[in-house]
Amino acid sequence: MLNREIVELLNEQINKELFSAYLYLGMADYYADQNLDGFENWFYVQAQEERDHAMLFRRYLQNNDEKVTLLAIEAPSNSYDVYEAPLAASLKHEQFVTASINNIYAAAYRDKDFRTMEFLNWFIKEQGEEEKNATDLIRKFELFGSDAKGLYMLNQELLGRVYAPPTLVFN
Ligand code: FEO
Repeated sequence: MLNREIVELLNEQINKELFSAYLYLGMADYYADQNLDGFENWFYVQAQEERDHAMLFRRYLQNNDEKVTLLAIEAPSNSYDVYEAPLAASLKHEQFVTASINNIYAAAYRDKDFRTMEFLNWFIKEQGEEEKNATDLIRKFELFGSDAKGLYMLNQELLGRVYAPPTLVFN
């Protein structure tokens, strides 16, 4: 049995990950409307990864004989003024998710819930990668995005991102 507070935090994290998927899908839609299909692809893949994250939290709760309670998913905004706006918003959002996962980890640490800490280790590492990816994209846009040829090349590069299932897998 997991501690009630930790169950609640893990359950809320399912919602946060699904909201992340929704948020990134909205960003993909924004870029689709701007005919920037590489940026659209990058965020569409990101949305798929977020859905996977939600499923991992769901399965962890179920593997521990805990009930999942699906909560309402907030509607994201998908109206942005400039091409770089979703990039900055995605970094800010990843920092929010990192803080949320750290908060669950802190609760698990406090309760000596070593199983949950072990489960969360993958997410701690993943969040480092998520923040780095978002920062790298902002840096690239700053370097190349203001010039039409540079933007075209960057869009082509982002078209190459392919979805890969998470390395953390359990049945
Ligand atoms: Fe599931 Fe982007 O954190």
